[in-house]
Amino acid sequence: MPAIPSIAERQEQSPVLRDRFGRDIRYLRISVTDKCDLRCNYCMPKGFRDFTEPAAWLTYPEILRLTRIFAALGTRRVRITGGEPLTRKGLPQLIAGIRAIERVEDISLSTNGTLLAPVAAELQAAGLNRLNVSLDSLDRACWAGITGADKLPHVLAGLEAARAAGLGPVKVNMVLLKGVNEHEIPAVVRYCFEHGYILRLIEEMPMGQTGSVRGMATLETIRQQLVSEFGLIPVTRELGGGPARYWETPDGHNSLGFITPMSQHFCASCNRVRLASDGRLYLCLGQEHSVDLRAPLRDGCSDAELTAIIRQAIELKPEKHEFREQPQQIIRFMSHTGG
Ligand code: 5AD
Ligand code: SF4
Repeated sequence: MPAIPSIAERQEQSPVLRDRFGRDIRYLRISVTDKCDLRCNYCMPKGFRDFTEPAAWLTYPEILRLTRIFAALGTRRVRITGGEPLTRKGLPQLIAGIRAIERVEDISLSTNGTLLAPVAAELQAAGLNRLNVSLDSLDRACWAGITGADKLPHVLAGLEAARAAGLGPVKVNMVLLKGVNEHEIPAVVRYCFEHGYILRLIEEMPMGQTGSVRGMATLETIRQQLVSEFGLIPVTRELGGGPARYWETPDGHNSLGFITPMSQHFCASCNRVRLASDGRLYLCLGQEHSVDLRAPLRDGCSDAELTAIIRQAIELKPEKHEFREQPQQIIRFMSHTGG
């Protein structure tokens, strides 16, 4: 087996952040808050209140400083996540700040959509390129059962507003919840096709023990059913740049993605790291490896020192998640690191 090159050797070869497994880190996901106005039961435990306080959150200038450093190290895509990012004040200003960072090519947002309709145009004007909206059901009662709130109409209005604002193509995320929303999948597929939204079906990950109670469900059979119902053909060209595998209708008008963290690992091409709202950098969604960036930021570290800390952190990036191998391992809630 060839020896793994040292960090110094690798950095000489590449100014870009590259991990021990040769993966270039080009994608930074930034959680701006762990608070959320919903309580999706696959994301947070019932009655969860243990959020961090705003004083613990990185300020927008701190986030911008780190994003500049990441951009200098090769980051080209930034996604804003939460909790629910639109619950944090002044988000368009943060987006405008990120837009002003020369090397950042693409800015996206993951949102639950409840607060989206009134701000969609402002977000677009600030420089947001795209967004993903969660939609786990089109049945108002079922949606309320999953999220703990009766706000489905707000979300549908948010989707519409995003499309009207030119934040497209709008992507819709639906997490497959065994025995809860499986039967609604064809209806959501049809709805998204009709409205021109790109639906991605996602296998539930057992985060913070919220998922494990239901038992894992994979998308394999559902994919086969949808392929025959809608006559889908696999998309072979590069689409999305993420872990989703896409299929499309024969006329090429509609596509549908499958994100299968449970049934098929896509860790080998992982290009991302996650900055939590408290300034902790997580190297993998399914592992606990992390490094605090807030203390060095607030201790007056220089950009060069922060760069060194980030390079060192990338060394910790694990090869893969172990949701299946170690289902007993309790991972933090998704609301902490933002999906
Ligand atoms: N499994 C899979 N996806 C999840 N998300 C949140 N929790 C989970 C989970 N346990 C994703 C959903 C949601 C986004 C915010 O994060 O796609 O739309
Ligand atoms: Fe909120 Fe998204 Fe978690 Fe639902 S999945 S509780 S919308 S952060």
